[in-house]
Amino acid sequence: MKILVTGSNGLLGNAIHLELNKSNHKYLNTSHTIGGLAKKVLDITSMDSVENVVSSFQPEAIINTAAMANVDKCEKDRGTCWDVNVNGVRNLSEVCDRYNIHLIHISTDYIFDGLKDDGIYFEDDKPSPLSVYGESKLASEKVIISSGIRSAILRTILVYGNHERKNIVTFIKEKLEMGEKVDLVSDQVRMPTFVDDLAKACISAVEKKAEGIYHVCGDKKMSYYDLGIAISSYFSLNSNLINHVQTKDLNQIAARPPITGFDLKKSISELDFDPTKLEDSLKKIFN
Ligand SMILES: NC(=O)c1ccc[n+]([C@@H]2O[C@H](COP(=O)([O-])OP(=O)(O)OC[C@H]3O[C@@H](n4cnc5c(N)ncnc54)[C@H](OP(=O)(O)O)[C@@H]3O)[C@@H](O)[C@H]2O)c1
Repeated sequence: MKILVTGSNGLLGNAIHLELNKSNHKYLNTSHTIGGLAKKVLDITSMDSVENVVSSFQPEAIINTAAMANVDKCEKDRGTCWDVNVNGVRNLSEVCDRYNIHLIHISTDYIFDGLKDDGIYFEDDKPSPLSVYGESKLASEKVIISSGIRSAILRTILVYGNHERKNIVTFIKEKLEMGEKVDLVSDQVRMPTFVDDLAKACISAVEKKAEGIYHVCGDKKMSYYDLGIAISSYFSLNSNLINHVQTKDLNQIAARPPITGFDLKKSISELDFDPTKLEDSLKKIFN
C-alpha cells in the first residue's frame, strides 16, 4: 500500500519508519521541517502544504503522528497547540475526504480526567480533559469523526522507546547513569506504551482498513515512581537516586489525570495488538 506519514522525526514517526522499512509498503516520511527522516516538507497547519504532498504522492492511507505533544507547552501556548493539534487535523481530514484516503490518527489518555476508580477506560467512556493538550486532542477526534471520512483513532498512553528524542525511559536511565537525582511521582499512574507496539498497531490499522476508536497501550499499570524502580532494577542502577514525590511537589503547569489505563480487548481482537512486557522492551531498546 502507499502510506503517507506525518511527523516522521518524532518518537512515533521514527518507530513507524523502522516498521515500514521491514514491510512491502511504499511510504513517504514527512515533517514540517526538512531533515532527519523527512523526505518532504509537510506542515499539517498549511492546507497548501498538505494538498501539494498528497496530490503528488497519492497515498491510500495517511498516518498522522504530527502533533504538539508537550503538555505544558500546550498549556502556555493554546494558539499554536490548537493550530497543530486541531486545525492541522482538519486540513488532513479535508484532503482525506477529497481523495478518499484512510486516516490513522493518534490521540491520548489525557482526554480523560483519570478520576475513574480503577482508572481503566473503554473506547466509549465519556471524555473530560483537564488540560489544553487534552482538549485539543479531543477536538481533533471530533473533527475527524464529524468529517465522516474513513478513519481509525488510536488513543495511547505515555509512549517510550528508542529515539534520540528524549522519552520517559531514556530520561530516567540517563539521570541514574549520571548519578543524578530524579523526582518521580507515585500519584500519577499510567500504562506505559512501547513505541514499537504502537507503530505496529498503526500499520495494522492501515492494513485492516480499521475504522473507529482503539485503545492501545502497555499491559501493566504503574506509577512514574514504579517505572523508575523497574528501570533501576533492570539496569542495576542506584534506586536511592529516585526521589519519591507527589504531583503537588512538581508544580507542573498543566493538570494531569491521576490514573489512566485502557481496556485493550478491542485492539487485541481487531488490530492483533500484542503489547510487549516492560522488561522485554527495555532489552529491545538498549541491546
Ligand atoms: N509521547 C507520548 O507519551 C504520547 C502519549 C499519548 C499520545 N501521544 C500522541 O502520539 C502522537 C505522536 O507523539 P510523539 O510522542 O511521537 O510526539 P513527538 O515526538 O513530539 O513527534 C511529533 C512530531 O510532529 C512534528 N510536528 C510538529 N508540528 C508539526 C506540523 N505543523 N506539521 C508536521 N509535523 C509537525 C514535530 O516536529 P519537531 O520535531 O520539529 O517538534 C515532531 O517531530 C501525537 O499525536 C501525540 O499527541 C503521545
